[in-house]
Formats: sequence, structure tokens, C-alpha cells
Amino acid sequence: MSSNLLIDSANKIKSCAESSNQPCILNSLMKRMTIEEKMGQMSQFFGHGEHISEQLAESIRQGRVGSVLNEVRLDIVNELQRLAVEESRLGIPLLIGRDVIHGFNTIFPIPLGQAASWCTATVKQCAHISALEAATSGVNWTFAPMIDISRDPRWGRIAESLGEDPYLCSVLGVAMLQGFQGDDLQKNGSIAACAKHFAGYGAAESGRDYSTTNIPENELRNVYLPPFKAAADAGVATFMSAFSDLNGVPASGNKWLMTDILREEWDYQGFVVSDWESVVQLTTHGFSEDNKDAAYEAANAGIDMEMVSTTYLDHLPDLLAEGRVNIKQVNYAVTKILQLKWQLGLFDSPYTDANLLPKPLNSEHLQVAKEAAIKSCVLLKNANNILPLSAESLSSVAIIGPLADDPYEQLGTWIFDGDSKHSQTCLTAIKQLLSAQVSIDHVKAMETSRSHDQTGFKQAVESAIAADVAVLILGEESILSGEAHCRAEINLPGCQEQLIDAIAQTGTPIVLVIMAGRPLTIEAILPKVDAVLFAWHPGTMAGPAIADLLFGKASPSGKLPVTFPRKVGQVPIYYGQKHSGKPATEATFVHMDDIPVRSPQTSLGMAATHLDTHFSPLFPFGFGLSYTQFSYQDLELNNKTIHLGETLKIRVMLTNTGDADGEEIVQLYIRDLVGSVTRPVKELKDFKRVKLAAGQSEWVSFDLSTDKLAFYDRNMQLKTEPGQFHLWLGGCSQTGLRHEFEIINE
Ligand code: BGC
Repeated sequence: MSSNLLIDSANKIKSCAESSNQPCILNSLMKRMTIEEKMGQMSQFFGHGEHISEQLAESIRQGRVGSVLNEVRLDIVNELQRLAVEESRLGIPLLIGRDVIHGFNTIFPIPLGQAASWCTATVKQCAHISALEAATSGVNWTFAPMIDISRDPRWGRIAESLGEDPYLCSVLGVAMLQGFQGDDLQKNGSIAACAKHFAGYGAAESGRDYSTTNIPENELRNVYLPPFKAAADAGVATFMSAFSDLNGVPASGNKWLMTDILREEWDYQGFVVSDWESVVQLTTHGFSEDNKDAAYEAANAGIDMEMVSTTYLDHLPDLLAEGRVNIKQVNYAVTKILQLKWQLGLFDSPYTDANLLPKPLNSEHLQVAKEAAIKSCVLLKNANNILPLSAESLSSVAIIGPLADDPYEQLGTWIFDGDSKHSQTCLTAIKQLLSAQVSIDHVKAMETSRSHDQTGFKQAVESAIAADVAVLILGEESILSGEAHCRAEINLPGCQEQLIDAIAQTGTPIVLVIMAGRPLTIEAILPKVDAVLFAWHPGTMAGPAIADLLFGKASPSGKLPVTFPRKVGQVPIYYGQKHSGKPATEATFVHMDDIPVRSPQTSLGMAATHLDTHFSPLFPFGFGLSYTQFSYQDLELNNKTIHLGETLKIRVMLTNTGDADGEEIVQLYIRDLVGSVTRPVKELKDFKRVKLAAGQSEWVSFDLSTDKLAFYDRNMQLKTEPGQFHLWLGGCSQTGLRHEFEIINE
């Protein structure tokens, strides 16, 4: 930490003190606090659910606790606050932390699903409602948004991410944190957000959670850091350090990340909490000798609060006495923690009165959850426009699969406070939507999504034979994604593929709905089904949302926030890859089945691809069908040449050429043709969700400033480099009208 930064922060508090009374409290507290009380503010403990342990109560009384996480019983939370405020020497209230990731009691689509909506308003609204509901339990701090760029669908935490793209993740991450924090943290129902996991956690080797990440600085700055920079600029209250080891230095002991970049380069004003026991884990990483050494590394790196482990309480006093940790470092951390408590209004009102907030799970919250789920679903296939199904012309529907009527599994990962008793399943919703004349037969066919037992197939086949259409609701149950829940194969688990085979043989048309926490490799099953609606884990209102989509009360509008590979061996595969010196093309690609025996190596394409699968993904980033079609025409740029610092004005005529109303996500991509470091083949730079009635046309406009084209060069300088660019506007990363422009220096 530079001493300048510390002085700045102290000055800021002082100048606040001059304009308002309250921050003087912080100054005076800082003066009165003992070293042990300061360590206490820097320590977070976990709650015990049904009671307050005597040990926790005593620690709070002694001022040894700055925050408690995972305590959500309001009477207990208020009692914890009472102990802190009334029975500790200085009466400092507590931060109450909780993982409110995609809802509290009302569960919204998993974050990856929300990202598929490409809708900032929806993401913000979901977070706002999550905050309102969490606040009824006294929670004032969530550990979200998770803005780790995720390019490996094997990684279980991809479910919790906003996908593969730095721009989309930045924009939606900011929307989410704004939803949690509102425009004023002090307002009832606003809670502090946390940008996590700083940084690079999504690049875990082979998608194994917690494992090593090796990310060159240039890639780190151009791909992994932008969402965090955007969150810092948007005023996210806190950051969380990652569990992972970044280029040999675990994030929780990484001074370069936490101090040099976050505080000094970005001038971040909030504080950093470690991840769960990630400070003691510095020892497990083989980075610190023992817990004392771990405390030394973490504190000096700039970790302000330690989650769950107690190395700060146990060792910082000695480290301070030995001069290995500077008191300025500690004062900085404590000041930042107290400032957040002040900003949240906790010094004035530490207690929660749930009656002042809307009731969780109210009809408005459920309606937003339904709309969010509708916007999140991505239609991947719709042969012969089998969808939407016509409720009037059907006489019988077979609803098959382990996820058709499972209120728990539709919720997804990280749903601590969501109760499946509030879930509305697909089966219930379809029954409600269809008239009594339509016969609905439900067969689970498999006990769980992982079952290998095929005894239920016979009944499922009979049901499909008797029906006009078979709606298969398959996928991954919740436990198969999320923290530590990574997979080496990412196909439909258990015997679900065999179930599809069995139903396909009946000849009854198949509509496949997939609920999952990640992209799945579904290439082999695609030809066997007529339609695929990818629903992620849609949450409490999965059923009504999916029923509306299947029966045409709503049109699908989600687009993939992450590339779907054909085979797991293609991973990592993402649209913004580099071009390489030998890019794969249709002309050069040869499948291994087509290679003549003993042919010379040079007769092959010699291109950057695999022999046993096409080089393209199964579904590209940004892809998603609708019940209508959109055409793009007359792409216009106001100039073919612009100067650095200027803004390009772009517009395109978008027409809904189909018979149904619909929403299109218009995507703007560029390619910087030559760079001092090689540039991705495409980069998303903007997007708009546009609603058009059938037959309607509209100009869709974008402003693209040259600043938006900046990237970190070889010397880690953020610059826009003059030169030639390509620009595309379209409904997917792989299609669109193309134009060219040039940026010149003078
Ligand atoms: C996760 C964090 C989470 C924390 C607290 C950790 O295991 O990595 O994302 O916020 O637990 O529950």
C-alpha cells in the first residue's frame, strides 16, 4: 500500500467529518480502538443458524467480530446486532453477509441464465428484489455479483457467472451490483454488493474448481479484469479475493492484484474480503509457512477482512509488534470497513424491521421471476416451426423426464434461502395452461437426471406413442453445477441420451427442454429431436415461463452468453479467440474419417483444429432463435474514417419479417485487424434488446467511441491503436452485416 493512498483515505474521512457530524464518529472510533478491536473489525465469523453460540456471543461482546455470515433468522440477526451495539465496548454494528446469488426467497434464473437475457433492466430488477428480500432477514451484504469470465463449461461455477465475454459480463455485472446497492446504500432494502472472485478464478485448469490459473498479464488485463474494473468504477462496496493461485501467487496473498492494481491503478475505495478460509489456505497452497505467515502475506497484500479463519485475530498483533505489518495497513482496512457500515446506515439503525419491507415471494416478485425466466431461455432448434405448440389443435401431450415436475432441481445452485415448496414446475404450469380437453400424461422415466436405471423407459415410450407430441424435460440436477461441482464430461448425464433414443424411435415429435447449469454437449442428440429450448436453471417460476414459451404466449428471445462446444475436447472454445497463423477454414478442414490411409501429413489442412470434430462450435456465442425472424438491412456508418477520440455513428434497419411479435438482441462486434498484440477475431462492443411487432421495422443506432476500442498493449498501456477495423451488426456472433472503417491519428 502506498503511503499516499493511506493519507488520501484518512483525508477523505476527515473532509467528510468537516461537512457532516457522523464520520467524526469513525475518526473518534479509530482513535479509541485497541489493536484487538481493530483485528475484530477485520474478522468475519459464520453463524450457527438456530442459535447463537456462547463463543460467538462472547467474541462479539469483546469486539472481536466485524461481520457474521450465513445467519438469516431475523430474531437471531437482531440479537447479534444488539450484542454488538449494546454489549461491546465501542458498540460497532455488524455486517451480516450472505450469498444472495440469484434470489433470496424468490429464486430467479441462475446468473448464467440471467446473462442469456442480455437485459440489464431484468438483471438489475432481479438483484433489487433479491436485496429487498434478503434485507427482511437483516442481511446487509451479499457476495455477488460473480464476474469471473468463464470459458470452460466443465467448471461448475460457470452457472454462477455471466458467461465468456468481457463486455457482456461488465455491463450485466454493473447492472446486478446496482440492483443490490440501489442508488443509496442507506435506503431500506439496499445491500452492499461484492465483486468476486478477484481475479482469474474462472480460468481454473481443466475446469477443476480451485485449481491453478496461469494467465499472462496481457490476457488478464484484456479479458479477466475488465468486469472488475467496471464494478470498481460503478462503486461496488466490496471485492472478494479468489481461492485460486494466479501465476504462482495465490490471489489472497497477491499484493500486485489487491494493492497495485485495485487500489493504486484503479483508485478503488471499498474493501476486500478474503474467500472462505482462503487466508489459511495460503499455507495449503505452499505459499506461506504457517498461519502467521499467511496473515502476514494476506494483510500486506491488502486483504482487509478475513472470512472465517482467524489468522488476523491470532497473529496480526504480533506481526504489528514485530514491525512486519504496518499499523497504517490495519488502519486503512478498519477505516474502509467502518465506512461501509456508516454508508449502510448501521450506526443509526442496526436493527431490521421486516415490516418496513415488501413481503418476500409476493406476486410482483414472482412475476419478475417469470419474466426473467422467459427472457433467459434460448431456443436452439425449432425444426419445421414445431414450436410454439398449439393448445387448440393438440389432444394429448406426453410430458417426460426427471425435471418435469421437480420443484427443487429447477432452482439451480446457491439457493440457500429458496424453498422448493414455492416452485411452480413445468407439469403444473402446463396443466394450468391447457384446457381439460387436452390429455396430459406425465412419466418421470428416470429417478434423477443421473440415473442409469432404464426401467421407466417402457412407460415413457408408451406415453409418447399415445401422444401428439412428447415434451421431454431433461438436463442436470442442481448439484451437478456450482462450487466444486465440475464435470469432465458435459453431456446429458445418466441414461438421458438413451431415453431420447427410445422416444425418438416412436416417431412422435419431440420438444426437448433442457435445464442445466452449463452448456452441454448435445450434438449427437440434436438430430433426434425437433426442438430444443435451453432453460438453464430457471428458478421458482420455471414452469409458468416455460409453459408460456412452449405454447406461444411468449416468444423466446434469449441469446447464448457462452459458446456451446460440439465436444468437450474443444474446450476452451469461445467466439473471441485469436486468429492464429493457420486458422481453420472450410477449405482446409479434413475430418479424420476422410483422411486416406497413409496419406502424407501435408495433405491435411494444417490448420488450428481437431481431426475428429468440425472446428466450429455447436452453437456460437450470441445465438438464439425466436418464433419470428429478423432481417438486418442498410448498415450505415456516418464515416469510413475517424480520428482517435471521435465517435462513430452506426445504424441498421431491423425488420421483424415473421408473423409473430418478438424481441431481438442486436449485437455490435468489431475486429481490430492489426494490433501490437494480436486481437480477437471478434469483440462484442455493444448490444440492444429491441421489441418489434410482426412486420415492423426500426432503425437501431449505436455510438462507438474510439475509447471503446482500447486494449492493453505489449507494455500494458491501455490504448486505441489507429488502423483498419471490421464491424458487424447482427443477431449472433457468427452472422451479421459487415462494414469497415479506419481510425487515424491526425
Ligand atoms: C465461495 C464464495 C462465497 C463464500 C461464502 C466460498 O466457498 O467461493 O463465492 O461467497 O464461500 O459462502
